[in-house]
Amino acid sequence: MRPQSRAMTAALLMGVAPVALWAQVVEPTTPPAPPEFAAQGEPVFVNRDEIYTYRALPEYHEPEFVTAFVEAGKLPPVAERLPAEPLVYEAGNMPDGIGVYGDVMRHVIGGRPEGWNYVGGQSQGWGGIDIGLYECLTRTGPLFQVNPEDLQPLPNLARSWEWSEDGMSLTVNLIEGAKWSDGDPFDTEDIEFYWNDAVVDPEVTPLNGASPETFGVGTTLEVLGPYQFRFNFATAFPEQVLYAMAYGTFCPGPSHVLKPQHPAHGGQSYEAFRNAFPPDYMNFPVMGAWVPVEYRPDDIVVMRRNPYYWKVDSEGNQLPYLDEMHYRLSTWADRDVQAVAGTGDFSNLEQAENFVESLRRSADPEAPARLEFGPRIIGYSLYPNLSGNGWGAPDARAQAIRDLNRNEHFRMGVTQAIDRQRLGESLVKGPFIAQYAGGLYPGTAYYDEASTVFYPYSLESAKAHFEAAGLTDTDGNGFLNHPAEVLGGADVQITLLVNGDYETDKNLASGVVAMLEEAGIQVALNQLSGNDRDATRDAGTWDWQVFRNPTEIITVVQNTTQLAPTGPTTSWNHRANEAGELDLLPWEQEMVDVVNRFIASRDPAERTELMKQYQRLYTENLYGVGLVNYPGALVVNKRFANIPPGAPIFQFNWAEDNIMRERVFVPEDRQQDHELHPDTLPGAPGSAGPATAS
Ligand code: GLA
Repeated sequence: MRPQSRAMTAALLMGVAPVALWAQVVEPTTPPAPPEFAAQGEPVFVNRDEIYTYRALPEYHEPEFVTAFVEAGKLPPVAERLPAEPLVYEAGNMPDGIGVYGDVMRHVIGGRPEGWNYVGGQSQGWGGIDIGLYECLTRTGPLFQVNPEDLQPLPNLARSWEWSEDGMSLTVNLIEGAKWSDGDPFDTEDIEFYWNDAVVDPEVTPLNGASPETFGVGTTLEVLGPYQFRFNFATAFPEQVLYAMAYGTFCPGPSHVLKPQHPAHGGQSYEAFRNAFPPDYMNFPVMGAWVPVEYRPDDIVVMRRNPYYWKVDSEGNQLPYLDEMHYRLSTWADRDVQAVAGTGDFSNLEQAENFVESLRRSADPEAPARLEFGPRIIGYSLYPNLSGNGWGAPDARAQAIRDLNRNEHFRMGVTQAIDRQRLGESLVKGPFIAQYAGGLYPGTAYYDEASTVFYPYSLESAKAHFEAAGLTDTDGNGFLNHPAEVLGGADVQITLLVNGDYETDKNLASGVVAMLEEAGIQVALNQLSGNDRDATRDAGTWDWQVFRNPTEIITVVQNTTQLAPTGPTTSWNHRANEAGELDLLPWEQEMVDVVNRFIASRDPAERTELMKQYQRLYTENLYGVGLVNYPGALVVNKRFANIPPGAPIFQFNWAEDNIMRERVFVPEDRQQDHELHPDTLPGAPGSAGPATAS
């Protein structure tokens, strides 16, 4: 049944809908056609094993200054630091071929590091800093250039895996002989610690929220040897788990330094564990290509090359090519400005407010940076908190809003109060912005227009829906009131949580506030810094929020369990109460069933059909209220080589992963002098900073 007729029937049954009211309701349709705006770069599609393999090479090389450490007896020779069979980047897949050592990539970020304990849930400030530190079992960023027939996560710390015949278990083989940046072996001790003491321990939530459900309800992990473990599943062939092994959800931490701080192994408390590695703790052991060696609050984080990095190019040069990484601690808007001006080296141009100026400046042939727009997969939605049974311990006012959020008329009123055309123009004029219905984005693999329900802007229609939800302006102050029996008939007052670190987030949220006000709903902004906003989001102490949609909305195959409240903590806007109970609405239960069937299915036709159902359930029922979607552009200084064509700023992961920074280099004649700690390597964990050879 179409939503309108269902809504109308429900209202008629409740006896609240005079025919005149419904005469004002504007019918939903499919989304309006977006303006023409073609993506600029096309990836060169390859199979996964054309990008990298694992094998021994006859000899290995390192930068000269690193050899000085070896000669001074401070570091074993490069061949001993590498695994017997390192990960080998094939020159054939490098756009500019084998690179040279030296230079720095100067990032600018808007986040701030809470500390280095990602496993304990601390943020490092985003903008690629964590992506460069932590390596994960599998890797997905570079999949934007993988042939659809070969689309499966790339191996990484997990070198290979085999399904049992019945699909009920997966044996995972780790790379053998790889080491943490301080020389400690990487092995299943790290896997066991991450699984038992972070994923499974209810007191610990790793940074990107991995929980047992992320790997499928009932999944267990069994260690078979130093380099082998097995997942055992409750259902056959849950291929989604290969994606759950990638960035965000299975990036083990250094158990040799983390474990002693964890309460299960003699650590003081969970709080102390989380905070044991503050931002000024230098040389935290990593598996990534660069190690933090300097931190100046609100100024910079400097990282130096990891001498034990376990990846090489096909000529045996140990990676990375870049000796140093900078993360200037500034604002996200400044990242765009600096990258375009050439004082920074990299930006994901994702705040539409900066498009026109950035395009104008990059059009100059002498401009220091190249700028390439991708598809329209940066999108924002307004999410109502759908928990009615206590997530975030709502007070009476907040509970009344939860009850409204769970009312379909209320959600329809909200969506029809939003003029997406005007909202988009408030960010940027021109062909960039599309009106977004919510759910999957047009142009992505599983999108189906006919399954997408779009509620056009209509204030009259919005007001009719609000009235059907029981809201009228009883005191004549221009704002709608609750019915007399709720909060004594007080004005409806809603708080809207938003990340104050981004101009776009703030502008869209302010637009929503203004438009809802026109429809008679009072909304107040709760604008918090990124880290505080994330904590508030996960605590559930909010009514509505506006945010940039995560990867599952683009790829579906990545973080699939997060597409619906499939587990107590998988959803962004509906989590379980303290007792672990989820009070799903009937259509949410249908969404969960569809997502679980999608995960269990290996039949492409069935999966396509299930995602059509998902899209209809999502957009018809307004699980999230879509606002706008638009393209982002990758901005990289022209001196860098090996940037793959068509690298999106965000798809399976962010561009900082997609471009494979460990094989990015600067040709000798273009190298600049930005190194802050030349000729140094990371020191011992917890020591003051970088170390010198002499
Ligand atoms: C932030 C930025 C993104 C990207 C990610 C990487 O979210 O806004 O552009 O850099 O960090 O973690």
